[in-house]
Amino acid sequence: MEQQENTYALDAENASEMARLIMQDRMITQAIGGVLPELGNQLPPDTHHLLDVGCGPGGWVLDVAFAFPDLEEVVGIDISEIMINYARARALTEEQDCAIFIQGNVLRPLDFPDGYFDLVNARFMVGFLLRDAWVPVLREIRRVTRPGGRIRLTEVDNMGVTTSPALQQQLSWMCQVIQKMGYGFSPDGRDFGMTPMLRKLLTDAGWHNIQLAPHVVDISTGTDCHFTQWQDYMVAFQMLKPLYLKHHLTTEEEFEHNYQLALAQMQQLDFQGLWYLLTAFATKPDEQE
Ligand SMILES: C[S@@+](CC[C@H](N)C(=O)[O-])C[C@H]1O[C@@H](n2cnc3c(N)ncnc32)[C@H](O)[C@@H]1O
Repeated sequence: MEQQENTYALDAENASEMARLIMQDRMITQAIGGVLPELGNQLPPDTHHLLDVGCGPGGWVLDVAFAFPDLEEVVGIDISEIMINYARARALTEEQDCAIFIQGNVLRPLDFPDGYFDLVNARFMVGFLLRDAWVPVLREIRRVTRPGGRIRLTEVDNMGVTTSPALQQQLSWMCQVIQKMGYGFSPDGRDFGMTPMLRKLLTDAGWHNIQLAPHVVDISTGTDCHFTQWQDYMVAFQMLKPLYLKHHLTTEEEFEHNYQLALAQMQQLDFQGLWYLLTAFATKPDEQE
């Protein structure tokens, strides 16, 4: 695959990134209450074929396969070879025959017939869809969804809001670099500008009946998610560092000093932090609509 066709902000073949995504997926699914919390973790009627776009190491796909053993097929597609290999190995050892993983680029036409899927999930596409790619990708997902089928998008505007000054600085560099690199829709780089856009993007791509459901993950000291998120930041910031330097947001010295401080401040007993996520659900209109 040609390099310019991979627009992921981070290195998709990096084992640390894969480990980060594995932990993050477990944390989020537990914290928000399951794979489809907005639907009471029930599948809509006549749901047999599901797709997860940018599935990473496959946590959501495998959890869905486990939760709904009668499903015909739940497909995960991701550009990363190591993530797809890992996901396939897990499907094999867990004997999840309906979980299928495909290495592919969702910026290209999807290799599925019209109307093939009943429900398509995608989480955190902000990290690889450049601004102009959103509507075409959502249209292509619409093509492979059956009339009356659904899409479920989960996005964020930052990676947390916290009481640590040093951590806030790291999170601010992250928002700025996302904006500078052409991701998200923030006018000023203060956040990702993603969640306010979901309704419009879905509407522009021809989806109907859009519903929004917020979630929050508590990452304060003493919570279940605190250590997982600490590890996530530890890995994510180091991977983002070359991008901060390239875009002149900080210097090597300032970054290293702030990085150590952020990790230490997050360990303090009075550290408080929340991470807000938004899920948008929408339906593909029936032909007569
Ligand atoms: C932020 S991760 C999210 C993974 C997963 N959806 C989750 O929430 O845990 C983004 C994923 O998209 C994948 N990705 C990046 N560009 C892609 C592309 N053009 N086509 C398919 N997958 C892509 C990356 O390899 C990575 O696994």
